[in-house]
Amino acid sequence: MIKKGKVKLGQLDLEGALIARDRVGIQDFVLLDSHNSETAFLENLKKRFTEDLIYTYIGTLLISVNPYKNLDIYAKKQMDLYMGVNFFELPPHIYALADNAYHTMLSEANNHFILISGESGAGKTEASKKILQYYAVSCPSSTLLDTVRDRMLMSNPVLEAFGNAKTMKNDNSSRFGKYMDIQFDCQGDAVGGHILSYLLEKSRVVHQNHGERNFHIFYQLVEGGEEDLLRHLGLEKDTKHYCYLVQGECSSVSSINDKNDWKTVKNALSVIDFDTTDTEHLFGIIASVLHLGNVHFEGDSKGYAFLNSNAALRWVSKLLGVHVQVLHEALTFRKIEAKSEQVLSPFTVDHAIYARDALAKAIYDRAFNWLVNKINESLENKDSNRKTVIGLLDIYGFEVFTVNSFEQFCINYCNEKLQQLFIQLTLKAEQEEYESEGIEWEPVQFFNNKIICDLVEEKHRGIISVLDEECVRPGDATDLTFLEKLEEKMGNHPHFVTHKLADKKTRKSLERGDFRLLHYAGEVTYCVVGFIDKNNDLLYRNIKDMMRLSKNPIIQQCFPNSERDSRRRPETVATQFKNSLLRLTEILTAKEPWYFDEVLVRHQVKYLGLMEHLRVRRAGFAYRRKYEVFLQRYKALCPATWPHWRGVPADGVEALVQHLGYQPDEYKMGRTKIFIRYAKTLFAIEDAFEICKHELATRLQAKYKGYRAKGEFRKQKEAATKIETCWRGAQARKERDRRAWAVKVIKKFIKGYMTRKEAKTTDNSEYLAFVRQSYLNRLKVNLPKSVLDKTTWLTPPPVVTETSEILRKLHMRVMKLVTSAIFKGKKDSYPASVAAPFVDTRINEQDINMKVLQTIRHERIKYSVPVVKYDRNGFKPRERQLILTQAAVYLVEDAKIKQRVDYVSLKGVSVSNLGDSIMILHIAVNDPKQKGDLVLQCDHLYEALTKLAMIAKKENNIQVLNGSIKFEIQTGRENAVDFSTGAEPMVYKGSNGHMMVVAPRIKSR
Ligand SMILES: Nc1ncnc2c1ncn2[C@@H]1O[C@H](COP(=O)(O)OP(=O)(O)OP(=O)(O)O)[C@@H](O)[C@H]1O
Ligand SMILES: [Mg+2]
Repeated sequence: MIKKGKVKLGQLDLEGALIARDRVGIQDFVLLDSHNSETAFLENLKKRFTEDLIYTYIGTLLISVNPYKNLDIYAKKQMDLYMGVNFFELPPHIYALADNAYHTMLSEANNHFILISGESGAGKTEASKKILQYYAVSCPSSTLLDTVRDRMLMSNPVLEAFGNAKTMKNDNSSRFGKYMDIQFDCQGDAVGGHILSYLLEKSRVVHQNHGERNFHIFYQLVEGGEEDLLRHLGLEKDTKHYCYLVQGECSSVSSINDKNDWKTVKNALSVIDFDTTDTEHLFGIIASVLHLGNVHFEGDSKGYAFLNSNAALRWVSKLLGVHVQVLHEALTFRKIEAKSEQVLSPFTVDHAIYARDALAKAIYDRAFNWLVNKINESLENKDSNRKTVIGLLDIYGFEVFTVNSFEQFCINYCNEKLQQLFIQLTLKAEQEEYESEGIEWEPVQFFNNKIICDLVEEKHRGIISVLDEECVRPGDATDLTFLEKLEEKMGNHPHFVTHKLADKKTRKSLERGDFRLLHYAGEVTYCVVGFIDKNNDLLYRNIKDMMRLSKNPIIQQCFPNSERDSRRRPETVATQFKNSLLRLTEILTAKEPWYFDEVLVRHQVKYLGLMEHLRVRRAGFAYRRKYEVFLQRYKALCPATWPHWRGVPADGVEALVQHLGYQPDEYKMGRTKIFIRYAKTLFAIEDAFEICKHELATRLQAKYKGYRAKGEFRKQKEAATKIETCWRGAQARKERDRRAWAVKVIKKFIKGYMTRKEAKTTDNSEYLAFVRQSYLNRLKVNLPKSVLDKTTWLTPPPVVTETSEILRKLHMRVMKLVTSAIFKGKKDSYPASVAAPFVDTRINEQDINMKVLQTIRHERIKYSVPVVKYDRNGFKPRERQLILTQAAVYLVEDAKIKQRVDYVSLKGVSVSNLGDSIMILHIAVNDPKQKGDLVLQCDHLYEALTKLAMIAKKENNIQVLNGSIKFEIQTGRENAVDFSTGAEPMVYKGSNGHMMVVAPRIKSR
């Protein structure tokens, strides 16, 4: 599609194309870098087509490739999608084109047209129906308008039944050109319509090539017509019965369901206001054509035609409402008016057949025009309010058959004209835009087909003129004389060639009766046979006169009296067609065009002149955009324009492109737009924009996340404060309760104390129980360490005095029991020790060095005693303090802890059975550097060892041995202490290296 002067919409498409280019090919050919390459062009179309993307733009032109299958892209939801939306966001679609034409028409209140071109079978008619459906569904409507809408939609099946036929190219080929105006009121309601039809291919009524059919309506009537109707029309329910239907030998086709189509047509006719008489007369005419075809002539002895069986003739006479005799005469005689006389001249058989066929073609052709007029009456809007229109042009496509005749000549000429219009308007639109933007126009290299149009239509010189002259000139004009004239006149035209004019090589491909035109779309060879006749389209006067007397009202309208009164020679077919195309061109030039090209096959790209179109569009600059829009899109790419450009947009764009390093030949600054020459420049900026967009998105995301996190933190903090408040409240309440409870308990306690000596009450018995328990608890941790030590026993409160005394005795007995268990009967000095009381400790805390205290106090000092320690080698005596804590034994010299032995490492203690006071502490040493066992002398041996046994729970590890006790100096190095008795206690190193201890003799022993 091309939107002349309305490039803004087209450029919006471009944005969409830019976004989508990486997905499936390029959505807009304007952005194709190799825009001169047909291969690249086809490649792109193919790439998209294989993905079922049948639509592609060239700027504002829409290209469609026939999918030959139903795609799910025409449903209501797609219509809704494209409705009123700026389609730059959406992929190319025929609805986008329809919608934009509609909205531009409404906003600018001017007329538009959509031109659909393409080779036969490419899908033009389907496209025009899609557009019409889109308007029918999308435009606002009321009940009244619904009728108009339905009629417009229903005109299609009727016109297709009468005007379309199966050809070799297309099972539903349009055999007439159709231009339909859809009228809208200022609110955008579809309020009326008007159809112009062009040159129906009427020769098809009497002749079809092999593999082709007559117009659909004949088959529909015969196959689908109701019994009554067929009887009334004198028809057999068999298409093979009719000469006009069997020539192509393919009356039934799998893709066509004539019976169903008949129903559709009947229904459509009722919608577009046909009453029963209308339909009766119309089908009378259709049937009469079939009967005419079955009228056979025979030749008499002179070769003149006569009719033998005239059953078919009677049906024609009946259905057309003409006297059978008159009809008979008209088909076998020609009436020649000589002066005041009328002379009847008999026809030869061929002549009669010619006259018969001419009649059949004429009545069908005229009935078709009547039908179009009748539809127009039903679509007419008589309201005189201002209306705007969208015209829809669905013309027959370019045709090339093996044998091409007058009809193809006309059809291809028509396409040539439309191509001319197409080029002119595209060029004009481009030029106008350059001019309005103040940009210098650069000449475009493209093929202008004006030269071919002139070759066909030029006055006095063109092919049509030559043909017309040949048709009217006196003498024996034939198709071949026409060809000679052509050769004379066109002899050296570069687009015209015949067998005679051709060089040797070309001549081979040309018959003597051929001429070849080099159309913009390619070469077509036409066979001149039939050109004169078809152009003359002669219908004998007496036949016309007869038809004028017909009782069939439709026939009456088709053969008006005014025709007879006109003395002028009727215009030839080619001239009529030429003039109607001229009028069409005028109609179209007065409107804003939208182009829609249907592509069927590869060579179509050439046939449609798409490359020419692209060349024109891409002549100068691939892309142009309003400054505001360009800046808005790409401003993030330049620090000066991001985030806001405060100045004039054009200056902002200049700053932006300078920053991007555009070369002077890459762009131009127009009045309101920037023009960018190469697609690749645009792609580069678009890619940069994509990257930048992501970066921006990341930054925004980070900001947003930060914002979210802050919010979250604030919320959490608020929650924490709340919890804290609640917690404090709960704590405070608990504290309050606790205090209240304490007050109560204290009160009770005081009361109990005060009444402790009185008779037993709840209060004082609770108090006394408390006193008892608390005393026992205290006693537990303050038990005296010696049996005779009475002073250290906790003074009991009066209530437990008795209990306390019992406990005290018990305790002392336990301690002494331990001593006796270990030593009684084993060591000589034991009996003497029993009387000696045990004391808490032998060294007061103040006599232990401060430093040592600080180091070991945390282990709780249980007992200390002065000892003599003997060196492990020389057995030199050293005075030391032995301190027992809860965890270990310490050997201390003033401020120095000489050795620490925790109870776990203390394997045991050995003493002799004699009266000495030596003890040997056996120590488990894993580290060879550690000191070995301790050999000590202690004056309070029983006390010290009992305490050690109880604190360290070593009751079972204290041994009393005879003679010699081994000890380890360090790991693996042993020595021994040898005990003996003597008069004087002594300690010395024996000659065996042992430590010799001499114990005093004890008398009791
Ligand atoms: N958009 C489409 N989706 C599906 N099928 C399609 C589409 N367009 C065309 N066709 C198929 O192609 C056939 C021919 O299309 P159509 O009759 O519209 O061609 P045309 O261009 O009007 O040809 P002619 O010039 O002979 O009239 C249709 O009958 C249909 O089967
Ligand atoms: Mg068609």
